[in-house]
Amino acid sequence: MSDLYHLAYLSQSTLGDNQVFIRNEVEQILAAAKRNNPPRNVTGALLYSGGYFCQLLEGPASEVEHLFEVIMSDDRHQGVEILFFDPAPDRYFGAWAMAFAGYDERPPFKIMGVKASQDDIHARALGRNLVDAMSRLVEAREQGRKH
Ligand SMILES: Cc1cc2nc3c(=O)[nH]c(=O)nc-3n(C[C@H](O)[C@H](O)[C@H](O)COP(=O)(O)O)c2cc1C
Repeated sequence: MSDLYHLAYLSQSTLGDNQVFIRNEVEQILAAAKRNNPPRNVTGALLYSGGYFCQLLEGPASEVEHLFEVIMSDDRHQGVEILFFDPAPDRYFGAWAMAFAGYDERPPFKIMGVKASQDDIHARALGRNLVDAMSRLVEAREQGRKH
């Protein structure tokens, strides 16, 4: 049986609103992911949007859990809320150590809605929409690079 899990969470950035500082910190996060995720067989995507992070981690359950614990204790964000942690048939971002979906001043997604949701099934559905949106954003960034 394959041991592939998807974990998605939302968190609030503690990086403030200096765009240069934010970009620099995000670069360092992505550099850490490039260094650490491939040996753990973890892939995924990260979005910074309107003061929130949204991240999908995909890989073996134990590796995803271990990495998530490290990430949770990082003081560059707070209020981490898991959207889902489920077995999955495939990877969305198999080609990336950590795909970057981009920066956005305003949250383009219903992040507050997801966070406000007390309903687990509803939160999951919105979480999956976020992951789909990240996937499209990553694709758009890749297209942009080719032109
Ligand atoms: C939103 C967010 C996402 C992160 N994602 C990853 C990740 O995918 N992989 C990773 O190794 N570190 C990630 N980090 C950084 C870790 O918390 C930690 O700083 C890093 O793993 C330490 O790496 P090092 O032991 O190689 O110095 C993330 C941090 C934040 C705030």
